[in-house]
Amino acid sequence: MGLLDFLFSIVKAFCGESSQPEGEKPTGVQRPPQPQKPVSPLPGAWPSTPPQDRLRYQDQNQANQQNEHYLSLRAKANQEGDAMAKCFQESHEAYSRREGALAKELSEKGKKHERTMEALNAEASAWIFRENNSDSKPGELDLHGLYVKEAISFSDKAIKEARQRGDSQIRLIVGKGLHSNGQVAKIKPALEDLLRKLNLPNEVDPQNGGVLIVQLA
Ligand SMILES: *[C@@H]1O[C@H](CO)[C@@H](O)[C@H](O)[C@H]1NC(C)=O
Repeated sequence: MGLLDFLFSIVKAFCGESSQPEGEKPTGVQRPPQPQKPVSPLPGAWPSTPPQDRLRYQDQNQANQQNEHYLSLRAKANQEGDAMAKCFQESHEAYSRREGALAKELSEKGKKHERTMEALNAEASAWIFRENNSDSKPGELDLHGLYVKEAISFSDKAIKEARQRGDSQIRLIVGKGLHSNGQVAKIKPALEDLLRKLNLPNEVDPQNGGVLIVQLA
């Protein structure tokens, strides 16, 4: 098997396509384009989220956090996300042209941008969470400045810890979303989903619409 064949077979495995006739080995660049199936949005083994979702993941949730350090981490993460989406798109186009080696290279580049984006977002969320919770009362979790997925994972962790301590309730401070382009509105249903899965009764604080009170025992 030649190098190109080899690379192509890797990409083919990633892409999960089986349109090649039996016994016919695609050889990448030299081969004239073959009749194409409709192209799926993104090759399969690459992180399965379609590009729109990857970009949606960057949505600023509770973008009312004006701290420069925080904003710059999020902005850099967004740039990495854009670079990632561009690489995956170009990788897919290269694959469609049967340029397997290039497709693979672009895919690896895209994944590198994705990892950097995730590291920057993790840093931003850890930082804002620490900032906003250093003065929180015990049993209270301030989720300001977190993306929906981050808010869910911080809440999940805190709930488990609170249960282990034997706490009877935890207060999740979601905020009212007045300055956040409606993003806070997405956190509440996502949290309610989590609490349903964990089988934990909860209610909005009658004194404060931005707080979800979760009964642990
Ligand atoms: C969270 O922390 C950031 C950075 O210190 C600050 O700008 C923001 O006002 C805090 N938000 C809340 C709700 O405490």
